[in-house]
Amino acid sequence: MERDHEFDIILWGATGSTGRRAAHHLALRTDNGKRLRWALGGRNQAKLEAVRQQLGPEAADTPIVTADSHDVASLEAMVARTQVVCSVVGPYASFGTELLGACVRSGTDYCDLAAEAHWIRRMIDAHQAEAEQTGARIVHACGMDSVPSDLGVLFLQTAAVERFGEPCKEIKMRIDEFSGGFSGGTAGCLIYGMEHNEDKFIGECMTQPYSLNPEGMRQGPEKPNKMMSTKVEYDEDLGVWTKPFFMGPMNTKIVRRSHALMGYPYGEDFLYGPESQMVGSGPLGWLKAKAGALKFAGLVVATAIPPTRPLMTKYVLPKPGEGPDAETRENGEWGVVLVGKTADGRIIKARLHGDGDPGTESTSRMIVESALCLAEEADKIQVGGGSWTPASAMGELLLSRLIAHAGLTFELEQHPVGV
Ligand SMILES: NC(=O)c1ccc[n+]([C@@H]2O[C@H](COP(=O)([O-])OP(=O)(O)OC[C@H]3O[C@@H](n4cnc5c(N)ncnc54)[C@H](OP(=O)(O)O)[C@@H]3O)[C@@H](O)[C@H]2O)c1
Repeated sequence: MERDHEFDIILWGATGSTGRRAAHHLALRTDNGKRLRWALGGRNQAKLEAVRQQLGPEAADTPIVTADSHDVASLEAMVARTQVVCSVVGPYASFGTELLGACVRSGTDYCDLAAEAHWIRRMIDAHQAEAEQTGARIVHACGMDSVPSDLGVLFLQTAAVERFGEPCKEIKMRIDEFSGGFSGGTAGCLIYGMEHNEDKFIGECMTQPYSLNPEGMRQGPEKPNKMMSTKVEYDEDLGVWTKPFFMGPMNTKIVRRSHALMGYPYGEDFLYGPESQMVGSGPLGWLKAKAGALKFAGLVVATAIPPTRPLMTKYVLPKPGEGPDAETRENGEWGVVLVGKTADGRIIKARLHGDGDPGTESTSRMIVESALCLAEEADKIQVGGGSWTPASAMGELLLSRLIAHAGLTFELEQHPVGV
């Protein structure tokens, strides 16, 4: 449905740690609103004005829109003014439900950074049918969770079909670089999960590997995950010890949902197993991997149990609005390797890399490109209303934008191995 909106994009949550970076990138990418109409959105006018000032004199005319996450009327008024809402207000389970409902009702396209499987599942169950009717495209997980995994698999499978004439039957993803910090909103999601750890639905969504797939498509070759694994494993293909990757439980579910939504192009028995982080080789590699896995588990346990949770919240974890400093953001980077195997054992590998701290800098560029893709390429996007993933909604369109504008590289290893 064509509508004449006042804005192409409202950046909802522009005052947060990720939101401030997203505002910066959106200002640059739109030539300060000259190329595309966008607005800074949030609940606090004065804070939004401060963010606008930080963007420099060229951005002085950027419009500001205010609403509140729990005031449905204010949200409805806001979403009616725009073609796309780009939401970086989280934890989404605490602050995202009413906004998503408002977007669905008004047929407004929406993207977010949600990495909360339970909330995404609840939103799909509540809104899928209505979104299909109103035409609202809802795209979750448009940041580090889970763009590299989701588009990395799409990239590798496209290359496998070109090189071998068939897709891989299994793909694994290994992190080989992940330097940066994390922000208050991400810490908030961890705390939310721990405060609600009695909720069976949350546990089920996290441990069931296909919990985000549409009903009737929640089976496949992957077994249920452990809530918190400290298992270290030797990767024969790469010759290194690996530890579990903390974003893996979310990323894998998004990849599997994409595959189901795209109609199983890689076959119903396609396996995308647990993601892990490469640590090193030899006994020292094993030791470092085990120590890293136990350290992360310790952090989660300390956040989970009531006696230490307040101490973690007060002294260790970043608070809402806080995030890595400029040096950490700029010097950070991430890199991953994807290894795919065909049914007869032929191997293909890809390497992905992103400039900037993965959690804020690289993530904010990814979500900005996702919002721009929804706004600028609305006519090229093949899917209609409903709940989507980055790969199933925007696929190659988003991939080329990330390479051109977000500091990401997707490279294929030239020489196939194991043939
Ligand atoms: N997937 C990924 O890779 C990834 C990476 C980074 C972040 N994230 C997610 O992105 C979300 C935001 O993270 P963050 O660290 O940027 O959070 P943050 O710094 O704490 O910012 C939260 C934002 O939410 C706003 N907010 C809070 N309560 C609100 C309300 N009632 N009404 C309207 N706005 C409200 C805050 O506004 P005020 O400034 O007025 O308080 C602020 O703009 C989190 O869910 C996080 O998990 C995901």
